Amino acid sequence: MKKKLKVLLIFNTAYATPRGYDFKEEFADPENMYTENDVCRALQVNNFEVRLLGIYNDIRPLLDEVKDFKPGVIFNLVEMFNNKTHFDKNVGALLEMIGLPYTGASSDALFVCNNKALSKKILRFHRLRVARFYTFYRGHRIWRPRTIKLPAIIKPLCEEASRGISQASVVDNENAFVERIKFIQDNMKMDAIAEEYIEGRELYVTVMGHKRLKVLPARELKFGQLPEDEPRVATYKAKWDDNYRDRWGIKSVFAGKLANGVEERINEVCKRAYRALNMHSYIRFDIRATSEGKVYIIEPNANPCIAKIDEVAQSAEKIGMSYEQLIRKIVMLAYQRK
Ligand SMILES: Nc1ncnc2c1ncn2[C@@H]1O[C@H](COP(=O)(O)OP(=O)(O)O)[C@@H](O)[C@H]1O
Ligand SMILES: [Mg+2]
Repeated sequence: MKKKLKVLLIFNTAYATPRGYDFKEEFADPENMYTENDVCRALQVNNFEVRLLGIYNDIRPLLDEVKDFKPGVIFNLVEMFNNKTHFDKNVGALLEMIGLPYTGASSDALFVCNNKALSKKILRFHRLRVARFYTFYRGHRIWRPRTIKLPAIIKPLCEEASRGISQASVVDNENAFVERIKFIQDNMKMDAIAEEYIEGRELYVTVMGHKRLKVLPARELKFGQLPEDEPRVATYKAKWDDNYRDRWGIKSVFAGKLANGVEERINEVCKRAYRALNMHSYIRFDIRATSEGKVYIIEPNANPCIAKIDEVAQSAEKIGMSYEQLIRKIVMLAYQRK
């Protein structure tokens, strides 16, 4: 009988759990570790030999587990270490030192994509369209540079999941501009980035592959009945608060018709960006397509959410790739690169 491929599924936890912990309770809670549960089941359906490992603030269990289990592939769902998002790249770097194939982005791609200025600098170098921006590091004077036109959007420089993004992030005067930067620096204790506000349709585009790339059908965030004077932005509430989404009819759907040539441009832009960022597995780009057909990359998301309900899986399903096939493809992309 052919030996099963061993896959070690690793993910971050908010507390320490011993090796061998089964996560039954956490996985059963639909509000809790549903991504880990989805991926775990899909790996099992694919007949891989699966072990789970939660990582909180200690890397030793990972080293021990690798030594004992000897996985063929590590499926990396770690987004945080010790509750800090920017340590995802350090876990990636550790996996590189361990030397086993692992899924998703490399540590350098995680590093670049985590920083909204750095990723834009690289994309811009490759002549991809990004919003004009300026960075505000803590401890320096705050002012509005003339090169940044209003309205602008102010965001934490290195955050994810719209943390720190609300309607107040979009500013149309100098005072609000400065105040919002102060808010991010003083309240969130983070550096800030100011970007020109790009008006346009908000699209989410997944790209997968290593040598041959596949751009999956775009999803679009529809802002429903949100009042006209409110900026159309995927705020924290718009992303995560179901009551708020229902109240305003905010929902994610497949992108309807795009203006002539825009779909082709999105495909081309996303493939070029994927190469520019040295991706090998899967990524989701947040994009804005303007009414003149210009395509802006708002943000590259290395290791985006891949639960069944998330954009990546929805887009895959649209081309006839089941969730189980998607997860298998991600494992194989890692395995074949070893
Ligand atoms: N330059 C911009 N112009 C218009 N909208 C923006 C811009 N930057 C961010 N947004 C809006 O804010 C949302 C969150 O910004 P993003 O940079 O993707 O941060 P996060 O990493 O938190 O998802 C985007 O999905 C988009 O709706
Ligand atoms: Mg985003």
